[in-house]
Amino acid sequence: MTRPLPGELIDFHGMVSRSPRMREFFALVERVARTDSSILIRGETGTGKELVARAIHDLSPRARGPFRAVNCATFTPELLASELFGHVRGAFTGAVRDRRGLFSVADKGTLFLDEVSEIPLDIQARLLRVLQEQTFVPVGGTDPIHVDVRVISATNRALRRDVEEGRFRADLMYRIRVVPIFLPPLAEREGDVEALAWHFVDEFNARGGRRITQIHPRALDAMLAYRWPGNVRELRNAVEHAWAVGVGEALRLDDLPPELRGEDPPDSARPATAVDDERDRIRQALRVARGRKGEAAAALGMSRSTLWRKMRELGL
Ligand SMILES: Nc1ncnc2c1ncn2[C@@H]1O[C@H](COP(=O)(O)OP(=O)(O)OP(=O)(O)O)[C@@H](O)[C@H]1O
Ligand SMILES: [Mg+2]
Repeated sequence: MTRPLPGELIDFHGMVSRSPRMREFFALVERVARTDSSILIRGETGTGKELVARAIHDLSPRARGPFRAVNCATFTPELLASELFGHVRGAFTGAVRDRRGLFSVADKGTLFLDEVSEIPLDIQARLLRVLQEQTFVPVGGTDPIHVDVRVISATNRALRRDVEEGRFRADLMYRIRVVPIFLPPLAEREGDVEALAWHFVDEFNARGGRRITQIHPRALDAMLAYRWPGNVRELRNAVEHAWAVGVGEALRLDDLPPELRGEDPPDSARPATAVDDERDRIRQALRVARGRKGEAAAALGMSRSTLWRKMRELGL
């Protein structure tokens, strides 16, 4: 297949799409960005939640202020508290000097809390206080600090369920999701698999060494039929894989990763062992990457933080 005509292709702050559903989503993002409300972005892994958070910041009155992002799943509870609120010298072993937390650093700007559902309960209480009173006390400190920060959070799970199960404070949930927005999975964005495949082909072509000008119909069919559990990140990885292993001007089915060629049945086909399969897949990827998590995550089509969380959940 040669490239479809550009048509309605949109590039919204780095998010490329031609789907009407995403156009509506971008319009919503533009509207909510103007306000100072707390926003919760819901969406599966790899759907672009961090890009959305940045877009909101850039479109907001705070655009000239700082934007900081933190992944709440990648810290131990002690380190997360110090990351967010800072600490004073001597607060704990290793705290050899005062350190500013992200709430101070992001003053007059925006703080993006990724995987917000992973915040432990005691830190949730402190977070609630910042959101209510815009003040916090650094770890080990006594004097409250006043800041002006807009919080954007993201999660790929239903916070309400965490609230029901006692893992997440209801009052905090209401504070952070004043405006919840839902980022659709890639498979539900009409026309986007093809549009994004070309977008990433262009990106890799620009690196030089190979120039793809066609996507073979069978390769395109496989991409259109695939469920894309890792969403846009996985699609980008699949195109990079094909670009790297193939030769010539066409992106071919044989060059796509095995799961797209139907060699691995999708997880949904074997629900009873989905967890074991996931564990095996992660183990295998870590082996191939010789323990390097960034590489393993890329091979699995997930972010480092998602890999991190899954390893924890699966006891790896
Ligand atoms: N619509 C899009 N157009 C182009 N690139 C995109 C788009 N959406 C996401 N990406 C790219 O896909 C990757 C994943 O996006 P991002 O990190 O924002 O996802 P995420 O939802 O935060 O994922 P996770 O839940 O795993 O943290 C990034 O490299 C991002 O630049
Ligand atoms: Mg993210």
